[in-house]
Amino acid sequence: MAFGRVEVPVSPPYPIVVGAGLDLAKVLSGALKPTVGAILSDSNVGPLHAPSLKRTLEEAGWRVADVVEIPAGERSKSLAVYGEVAGRLARSGMTRDGTLFALGGGLVGDLGGFVAATFMRGIGFVALPTSLLAMVDSSVGGKVGLDLPEGKNLVGSFLRPRIVAAELGWLETLPARELSCGLAEVIKMGLLSGGDSFAALDRIEAARERDPEALRSLVMHSIHFKAQIVAEDELEKGRRAILNYGHTIGHGLEAAADYSLPHGEAISAGMVAAARLSRERLGTDLLGLHEDLLRSAGLPLIVSNVEVEKVLSAMSRDKKRRAAGSDYSFVLLEDVGKPVWGVPVGEEEALRVIGAVVG
Ligand SMILES: NC(=O)c1ccc[n+]([C@@H]2O[C@H](COP(=O)([O-])OP(=O)(O)OC[C@H]3O[C@@H](n4cnc5c(N)ncnc54)[C@H](O)[C@@H]3O)[C@@H](O)[C@H]2O)c1
Ligand SMILES: [Zn+2]
Repeated sequence: MAFGRVEVPVSPPYPIVVGAGLDLAKVLSGALKPTVGAILSDSNVGPLHAPSLKRTLEEAGWRVADVVEIPAGERSKSLAVYGEVAGRLARSGMTRDGTLFALGGGLVGDLGGFVAATFMRGIGFVALPTSLLAMVDSSVGGKVGLDLPEGKNLVGSFLRPRIVAAELGWLETLPARELSCGLAEVIKMGLLSGGDSFAALDRIEAARERDPEALRSLVMHSIHFKAQIVAEDELEKGRRAILNYGHTIGHGLEAAADYSLPHGEAISAGMVAAARLSRERLGTDLLGLHEDLLRSAGLPLIVSNVEVEKVLSAMSRDKKRRAAGSDYSFVLLEDVGKPVWGVPVGEEEALRVIGAVVG
């Protein structure tokens, strides 16, 4: 099977390598000289995949100073766990020319990236995403950080990894529900991008069966698209905002459910709501298309046990961090491949479409 490689065109550029059965030692050696390394993983992924990564790194000439496993789950994206990981690195003899290898989903990537950005004012960082969401989304674009009790992702930074390597074989152990959550972001990118990325969405069902070629195609299309948007607008001053398609209401749903609702499922319902709004505002009816795609990915079209009012108040808190004014800012679709962003939406209209996706 062909391996894919995308160069993220920022300066300095960095590569994202995707494939099944990657020669990781070769891939990593091509990007950086072996020095001291530490592996960060979580309690699900670590036992499954860290031992072979450690062996690979040692065979490639690295001294692996420590393998740190944090408890799986969003609660570990905290200042307390950040402090523990940094302390472990300090005690392990990590040096300034060392590298942190983040082996895991978006949680490990975000936390590990923030540790790497700040430990000794910055050490090397390699992202080894093991969830579909991390492969297509969180490991592309350099956003790293932590949650505070006051809100998600409130502390963070931008960090360019030295290399991102996504071994599709890691997805074999990813639970089906998590795979579907990653597909929500894949569908989002296809709808935003149009063209071949959109056409590739006909392989979603094969991807759910973990067909490596279908997974490779969907992952590569999503990465290509996100990398291009990020290169145009790395610090999210403008067009990068389109990546928030489905996320205005999606974030509100997550917060209203006290984060017991997986991100991908919230985004799925959020995109259905955005499709309704797009139909009302822009006259393009993409609702059926959204529903078919999301259903084929095993995603919910509505969420239950969430109060509409709570969603709206969470969206208001989110909004205060972004912009003044009484309207919510939405990304809508004029058509497949034609997103518009910064569309002001009033409270009544927002309430109506939230009501349609809350059961
Ligand atoms: N930085 C960004 O731009 C960005 C973008 C989107 C999301 N995020 C962040 O990413 C996080 C969500 O990422 P996620 O969905 O990957 O969550 P996650 O890292 O919590 O992983 C989800 C679950 O899957 C498990 N898992 C991951 N890979 C596995 C594998 N190969 N085999 C078995 N189990 C595996 C994990 O242990 C966890 O239980 C959130 O914190 C979110 O804020 C960041
Ligand atoms: Zn998302």
